[in-house]
Amino acid sequence: ELVILAYSGGLDTSCILKWLIQKNYNVVCYMADIGQNENFEMAKQKAKSIGAVDVIVEDLREEFVKNYMLPAIQMGLVYESRYYLGTSLARPCISVGIVNAARKAGAKYISHGATGKGNDQIRFELSVYSLWPDCQVIAPWRLPEFFNTFQGRSDLIEFAQKQNIPVSATPKEPWSTDENIMHISYESGVLEDPSAVPPLGIYKMTRDLKNTEDYPCVIDIHFKKGIPVQIQVPSGQEKALVITDALTMVQTLNKIGGQHGVGRIDIVENRYLGLKSRGLYETPAGTILHMAHLDLEAYAVDREILRVKKYLQDKMADFVYNGYWFSPEADYVKKCLKDSQDAVNGSVTLQIFKGNVIILARKSEISLYNQELVSMDVAGGFSPEDSTGFININALRLKEHARFVKLTEK
Ligand code: ARG
Ligand code: SIN
Repeated sequence: ELVILAYSGGLDTSCILKWLIQKNYNVVCYMADIGQNENFEMAKQKAKSIGAVDVIVEDLREEFVKNYMLPAIQMGLVYESRYYLGTSLARPCISVGIVNAARKAGAKYISHGATGKGNDQIRFELSVYSLWPDCQVIAPWRLPEFFNTFQGRSDLIEFAQKQNIPVSATPKEPWSTDENIMHISYESGVLEDPSAVPPLGIYKMTRDLKNTEDYPCVIDIHFKKGIPVQIQVPSGQEKALVITDALTMVQTLNKIGGQHGVGRIDIVENRYLGLKSRGLYETPAGTILHMAHLDLEAYAVDREILRVKKYLQDKMADFVYNGYWFSPEADYVKKCLKDSQDAVNGSVTLQIFKGNVIILARKSEISLYNQELVSMDVAGGFSPEDSTGFININALRLKEHARFVKLTEK
């Protein structure tokens, strides 16, 4: 029987690969390139040497940026007010890749190395079942025969050495990371104690504030229906560099954001299974784009739509975090959120400096903003007497409440 394994090249999935082969499965390894810093050629050789019948490496970076990351910015997705969902968004994208690969290869099973306490197993499997209802999943970390054999990292290392699986000479960092073009997350290990300050030098995409640039960087970001479509960044010459390719935009903003220490958070979050977990994230480009989008949206969109949207974007962030990117509720809410973005066209100018994203100006051809109407200097077709009536009517309820309070005090 043929299994397709979501392979990372690391110790866990290498041992899982060998273990599946020992169970008499034929295993195809699938690796998605979503912008993580990885030597795919080496990982490929490693999987082959362990006994994989085939290794597929697929570049999903553009797919991830265009169909997951930028729509998440357009929809304003933030989990529990702080987390931009870099890992959560990558899972459905990888799931599409692996399901397509499984079908092509004629595999019957999909296997992965996510642990039994995490969100990733849920996201991965819910996505796969939505896309391929008949699929069968093998999750070794949830099988007693597997987790009883491999109770800790040392068991995995011992097994690897016995089976001639190359074990990296450099000791693994004492925490777990997940990396893609949108972010890097760090959790578990020495980070599990929320009261412990993270070790120095842990972050990889962003500089510490004491090492950031001494001069601010000014950027223009253009949006079309809430999607970032163009950025203008300093080129070193007089004329700014104009970038319209989605992947290059994100890479450029990651670089600039990184140089200025933008986009770090250290939070305790609620996992779907009900446990709390401490995590560190760095999301440089994502943070800049979210800030710019928020500003243009406030400028362009109707007040009451924004209020309803706030509710829907919180719902959608939960759907994404909990693994329901592919679901009827997410399809429905996505449509509503996209609909709210028809007017979000224009550009935002911002300054990036010492970990901050500071908005300087915004521009839009058509917007609800009416300078004449809001101005202190012109009447602009607005009669101030009307405000007297507006206040009187709204005060009615407050005056009645005051009367009631007085009566109850007696
Ligand atoms: N806590 C984050 C999330 O649930 C990050 C998970 C990171 N995953 C990992 N396998 N290290 O989205
Ligand atoms: C894992 O358990 O695989 C990582 C953590 C998570 O999925 O939340």
